[in-house]
Amino acid sequence: SLNLRNRNFLKLLDFTSEELQFLLDLSLQLKQAKQGGYEQQQLKGKNIALIFEKSSTRTRCAFEVAAFDQGALVTYLGPSGSQIGHKESMKDTARVLGRMYDGIEYRGFGQDIVEELGEYAGVPVWNGLTDEFHPTQILADFLTMHEHGEGRPLNELSFAYLGDARNNMGNSLMVGAAKMGMDIRLVAPKAYWPEQDLVDQCLVIANATGAKITLTENVDEGVKDCDFLYTDVWVSMGEPAEAWDERIALMKPYQINSETMAKTGKATTKFMHCLPAFHNDQTTLGAEIAAKYGMNGLEVTDEVFESTQSIVFDEAENRMHTIKAVMVATLGQ
Ligand code: CP
Ligand code: NVA
Repeated sequence: SLNLRNRNFLKLLDFTSEELQFLLDLSLQLKQAKQGGYEQQQLKGKNIALIFEKSSTRTRCAFEVAAFDQGALVTYLGPSGSQIGHKESMKDTARVLGRMYDGIEYRGFGQDIVEELGEYAGVPVWNGLTDEFHPTQILADFLTMHEHGEGRPLNELSFAYLGDARNNMGNSLMVGAAKMGMDIRLVAPKAYWPEQDLVDQCLVIANATGAKITLTENVDEGVKDCDFLYTDVWVSMGEPAEAWDERIALMKPYQINSETMAKTGKATTKFMHCLPAFHNDQTTLGAEIAAKYGMNGLEVTDEVFESTQSIVFDEAENRMHTIKAVMVATLGQ
């Protein structure tokens, strides 16, 4: 069987289809073990550092709960309070933390930063989101699709990702779908399609796996027959607030609302979102922005978000089971 011990988890491009399927299978086993009350601790005595240069709810909590479940201890290093970034380089930080910790999670800005950490730490490094990629999210998304896919394997499932397809989610979903042989449609204004270089790499992968990659500006064509419609925020962490002015105008046709859901032609289509979502929850920044631009929800309406088609909280729960699988596979006994 496969062995991922001591590997970094920095981007999906570094893994074969078989390795990703192995992580998904392990996630399901760990989920069932926890639910059945027979989980075995494979990270006893391990110490894990969690570096977050950006905010997080799901990813941080998933790493912490998964670590505690498996018997490991964590240290959280937030956006301020350590020497990272201002007084000390990532190369030095990597070599220091690698002397104390058995594994390191990193969420931050450029992918090159987590790659440098992974190169010098000497212990497994896991990417908890960068500007370019969010690989642990994709494992949770695919586990959720598997669970809601009526028993069909991933390579028989289709989904459309609408909105900002040039961000970490668009990039990672495209790579993941290519690796797993899925039918993915990236439905976005052309300026927000993934970089051509990454598209080309994914087309080569798709050629081998049988994946189908479609890039289109046309919502009707893009969502037709899809099992899942997926979206993400239109302005990501680290981008300037001014980006909203341009984004709203461009992205408005790509909002997932009841009409968009109906356009798949399937009553069984499910709605997905990595979260946090701007769906007009009155307490959030999203509601403020939606009100300013006179919109009913931003990337998704409240109606779809709260509908029975929405599986966003199953998806959020699966962050924990899949992150646990990544840690167990790379660090477990
Ligand atoms: N989906 C996700 O990564 O959420 P957080 O930003 O809350 O970690
Ligand atoms: N694209 C979003 C994803 C959040 C999980 C961001 O980077 O802010």
